[in-house]
Amino acid sequence: MRKNIVAGNWKMNNDLKATRKLVKQIRKSIKKSNLNTTRVIVAPTFVNLATAVKRSKKSKVEVAAQNMHQANSGAFTGEISAEMLKSVGVKTVILGHSERRAYFNETDALLAEKVNTALAHKLEIIFCFGEELADRKSGNEEAVVGSQIKNALFHLGSDAFKKVILAYEPVWAIGTGETASPEQAQDMHAFIRKTLADKYGNEVADSVSILYGGSVKPGNAKEIFSKPDVDGGLIGGAALNAKDFYAIISAF
Ligand code: 13P
Repeated sequence: MRKNIVAGNWKMNNDLKATRKLVKQIRKSIKKSNLNTTRVIVAPTFVNLATAVKRSKKSKVEVAAQNMHQANSGAFTGEISAEMLKSVGVKTVILGHSERRAYFNETDALLAEKVNTALAHKLEIIFCFGEELADRKSGNEEAVVGSQIKNALFHLGSDAFKKVILAYEPVWAIGTGETASPEQAQDMHAFIRKTLADKYGNEVADSVSILYGGSVKPGNAKEIFSKPDVDGGLIGGAALNAKDFYAIISAF
């Protein structure tokens, strides 16, 4: 059975003190909840990962990184390797976020390399993709999403693919307050699962969690998460507030 997952991508927000505080608040809020079927993940910025890992020990809060370099080590000033993430206790890494693609020129080919490096180091991956507004307006959203998935992930074998969590994040819904309707999310998630089934078979397709991201808030989470192919959310803005984040977690 695939797991439900609510992950908070903190982006370039929260200094050390704010990281400590937010982890503490989230930990406290989920302590009494029955979260047997839901994973809770937070992704602080690199400099605060070690602190977040430390502060989330013996709780259900897991910590992910927001990015990672494709090389194992070497002369790449300012970059962070898979081993470095592992050495501070991080087990999951977000790859392919639309902001990385748009502002840091991350291509499908580069992401395929990052995916291989992460898996070689036994890091779990939250792999993001999604169409832009123009793609949706022209009816090309499935073609775009299908090619993003195929180009960066379909070289993987079935066992490797099971280590990947997918996050569909339509670019037009990120940080805009405009969310995909629950039906739009379900339609795309069903298309994604069928794409996986065609390549890897039903067993793999049914075991992969597919998250939705883009303006998920306490007010719309329940309806989006109720859709059969939506296994959770990748949350930006609303993940910065413990109360809102908890309300979204509780939507399951
Ligand atoms: P918002 O929830 O702020 O729209 O951000 C979504 C996102 O980019 C998560 O990775």
